[in-house]
Amino acid sequence: RVRLSLLNERTFAMIKPDAIDQCGAIMNDISARGLRISKARMIQLTVPAAKEFYIEHAQQDFYKDLIAYVTEGRVLALELTGEAAVHKWREILGPTDPEKAKIEAPNSIRAKYGKDKTRNAAHGSDSMHSAKRELSLLFPEKLSSLPWQMRTSAV
Ligand code: TYD
Ligand code: MG
Repeated sequence: RVRLSLLNERTFAMIKPDAIDQCGAIMNDISARGLRISKARMIQLTVPAAKEFYIEHAQQDFYKDLIAYVTEGRVLALELTGEAAVHKWREILGPTDPEKAKIEAPNSIRAKYGKDKTRNAAHGSDSMHSAKRELSLLFPEKLSSLPWQMRTSAV
């Protein structure tokens, strides 16, 4: 049973507005590298929803720009499942800054699709704890628990 749960670790991924037109290619990369796309939801985040999602960064100077950016268009929320999914997805994603990613991880998602430190193509949970929180925000057990701001702005 333990072995089975390790193989089925879950993480949260989000393709951000600057890369949404490449979401097909990005999902191919994810599958090709051994993670399973177990849930998907395309949505446009509202400002309150984005602020809650990125609450840990509320004090950062980039917070305002980040919120404006992730709410400017659709995002694709994904649940990814597989062995060591949290760590594996962070590896596939690459460093936060696409310029750094191009040097350190040229095949990563951020190296291939990111534009700059803010418009960096995709999000990945940084721990199992964050994954649980982020999954419960974007994929609540009951659809009726999705914050109404998200539900009514879904596309
Ligand atoms: P962070 O959690 O540090 O990076 P990651 O997404 O790799 O876990 O930051 C969250 C997001 O905030 C990041 O993906 C893009 C944005 N951001 C900036 O716009 N400027 C910055 O200097 C940093 C560090 C992050
Ligand atoms: Mg982070």
